[in-house]
Amino acid sequence: MARIIDSSCFIWAVVEILVLSKVDLLPLCLALNSEGLALWEFRKMVQGPSGTLNGWNYSDESPCDWRGVVCDNVTNHVIRINLPRARLTGTISPRLSELSQLRRLGLHANNITGAIPSFLVNLTYLRTLYLHNNNLTETLPDVLGIMPALRILDVSGNKIEGPIPATFSAMNKLKFLNLSNNRLSGEVPGGSMLRFPASSFAGNSLLCGSSLLGLPACKPEEETKTDHKGSRWSAWKILVLSIGIFLLLKMIIALLILCHCLRQDRKREIQLGKEGKLVMFRGETVPKSKAMLQAVRKLRKRDIVGEGGYGVVYKTVLKDGRVFAVKKLKNCLEAAIDFENELEALAELKHRNLVKLRGYCVSPTSKFLIYDFIPNGTVDQLLHPRTEEGEKGNPVDWATRIKIARGTARALACLHHDCQPRIIHRDVSSKNILLNERFEPCLSDFGLARLMENDHTHVTASVGGTYGYIAPEYAQAGRATEKSDVYSYGVILLELLSRRKPTDSSFSAHHINMAGWLRCLREKGQELEVVEKYLRETAPHQELAIALEIACRCVSLTPEERPPMDEVVQILESLANSSESTQPTVTETTATSNET
Ligand SMILES: Nc1ncnc2c1ncn2[C@@H]1O[C@H](COP(=O)(O)OP(=O)(O)OP(=O)(O)O)[C@@H](O)[C@H]1O
Ligand SMILES: *[C@@H]1O[C@H](CO)[C@@H](O)[C@H](O)[C@H]1NC(C)=O
Ligand SMILES: *[C@@H]1O[C@H](CO)[C@@H](O)[C@H](O)[C@H]1NC(C)=O
Ligand SMILES: *[C@@H]1O[C@H](CO)[C@@H](O)[C@H](O)[C@H]1NC(C)=O
Ligand SMILES: *[C@@H]1O[C@H](CO)[C@@H](O)[C@H](O)[C@H]1NC(C)=O
Ligand SMILES: *[C@@H]1O[C@H](CO)[C@@H](O)[C@H](O)[C@H]1NC(C)=O
Ligand SMILES: *[C@@H]1O[C@H](CO)[C@@H](O)[C@H](O)[C@H]1NC(C)=O
Ligand SMILES: [Mg+2]
Repeated sequence: MARIIDSSCFIWAVVEILVLSKVDLLPLCLALNSEGLALWEFRKMVQGPSGTLNGWNYSDESPCDWRGVVCDNVTNHVIRINLPRARLTGTISPRLSELSQLRRLGLHANNITGAIPSFLVNLTYLRTLYLHNNNLTETLPDVLGIMPALRILDVSGNKIEGPIPATFSAMNKLKFLNLSNNRLSGEVPGGSMLRFPASSFAGNSLLCGSSLLGLPACKPEEETKTDHKGSRWSAWKILVLSIGIFLLLKMIIALLILCHCLRQDRKREIQLGKEGKLVMFRGETVPKSKAMLQAVRKLRKRDIVGEGGYGVVYKTVLKDGRVFAVKKLKNCLEAAIDFENELEALAELKHRNLVKLRGYCVSPTSKFLIYDFIPNGTVDQLLHPRTEEGEKGNPVDWATRIKIARGTARALACLHHDCQPRIIHRDVSSKNILLNERFEPCLSDFGLARLMENDHTHVTASVGGTYGYIAPEYAQAGRATEKSDVYSYGVILLELLSRRKPTDSSFSAHHINMAGWLRCLREKGQELEVVEKYLRETAPHQELAIALEIACRCVSLTPEERPPMDEVVQILESLANSSESTQPTVTETTATSNET
């Protein structure tokens, strides 16, 4: 029996030892409980530099004795956290959601940042939540509205934004609510929210809703929507408009630049020192200014092809083989002030019977005009070649002469009638009618007389023009008109018919000029005597008569009796049509008569 008691004692002893040892070992093995660990995490995140949670001892078994922590007497679960004005900073640790029995969380009057954590919804017993006067941001989590036990909610004095969640309208158990002094916006949901005083919502300037809450009425949703749309639309409009204006401006600028380029292209210029420049007018056959400048610089005496009243003419061949005539003007220093403008106007003239002005070069000491080179000499050279033996050169047939008469008439008609302002040539002479490869006449030196004037009145003291061709009234009064050009043309016509120089010594011997000679013969009814013998034998007499008739009217002493050039052109063209109707050149010439 004693043995049994001993053995039972022994067992109890062993059990006691085990139990005692277990009690001794507990603090060593099981340190802080899980809620304590959760709170320790919380401490780590909010403990500020002042360390008000320093009293919390990690070696403790449970957090129940920690400052601001209250546990349930029986279950030892944390039921309250009360840490107002504890100079806490940082964010709230999500591990607080492990404090499943928590009834009250008071962290007000700290410097806690971040959002109101939505894990609070897992604290199903939480009745009181004090987070006011912190530095909380972001929006109110809508789960706050479905926390089953929540009675008191104060988040005032933070920086919470956004709307009050719709779930808040069903917080029927809520007894106290303070959302004031935040940045909440939008409409306050109705329902349970309407039970709270206006001061619960005050200090949120963007909140709207019931006037009971002291808030301004919200605009009807649709209206606000359309309003938004409207403002957005107008913003769009402004954007589109400004882009449009921007693009338009760019286009205008581009156009201006283009125009500038085109103008530069039309009038290619090289500046030469202070007052000099070389200008080439635009055209497919016009060389670049640079090439021209090189050519002008290289002009030599050898290249001179002739000299006239205005200066010396050089022939220049460019590297690419194109040939130009360069006229170096003399006495040009007092040339017209708007010299360049006049030249530009002359360059605009386009007619197959006018020598094309391609450019010019001006410098303080000299001026050059650049023309197309017309290879076959002048009408003067054609009719009166300097042959040593015979008086006359090769015979010139009527077709060539009438072609010259017609072309010259067309050129003058162009100057007189198609130009704006009209141009009076003033120096129509056989020396100024050049002949091209096909012996088409090209009138040259038009506009030059005016260009070389010092003043711009039409009445000039010195009479331009070539002796023998000048109309009597022009010679006397110095008054150049279209009619004086017509007179000169009449002289040329007579020159073509008679193949005599207007300056022929036989005229001056009889104290008459060519016109006087014609009048004289006409009175005797012997006007055909004027016509060269060769022509009288080869040319149709009717045409000769018509040409003589025109010449006679053109050299009339009274300017009013002289026909205008377009009429002369008409008569000569009808002449061509009747006599050359079988020749293909007829259509060609009539077609080009329209060309100006
Ligand atoms: N574009 C040209 N193409 C070819 N040769 C030309 C050209 N211009 C002038 N010439 C030649 O140069 C010579 C001189 O011409 P310029 O115009 O200086 O004097 P002009 O015509 O004889 O007299 P005026 O002073 O009355 O015009 C002409 O006779 C002609 O042979
Ligand atoms: C924490 O508690 C242990 C014993 O329980 C003690 O030795 C230690 O000093 C305490 N620490 C603080 C900081 O109070
Ligand atoms: C817990 O104990 C305190 C005294 O320490 C007492 O006042 C309180 O009523 C108790 N609470 C409960 C729930 O037993
Ligand atoms: C919050 O922090 C600022 C400085 O960052 C301090 O001036 C202020 O007193 C603090 N507020 C509270 C309630 O601790
Ligand atoms: C709440 O707790 C459950 C588990 O208990 C968890 O799955 C869920 O993520 C928690 N909710 C939040 C918001 O933390
Ligand atoms: C609130 O937090 C911001 C940064 O989130 C900080 O700059 C500011 O100083 C804080 N305000 C207070 C009063 O602590
Ligand atoms: C809410 O808090 C503000 C101060 O932040 C206070 O003025 C107001 O009276 C409070 N509202 C209620 C209903 O307690
Ligand atoms: Mg000439």
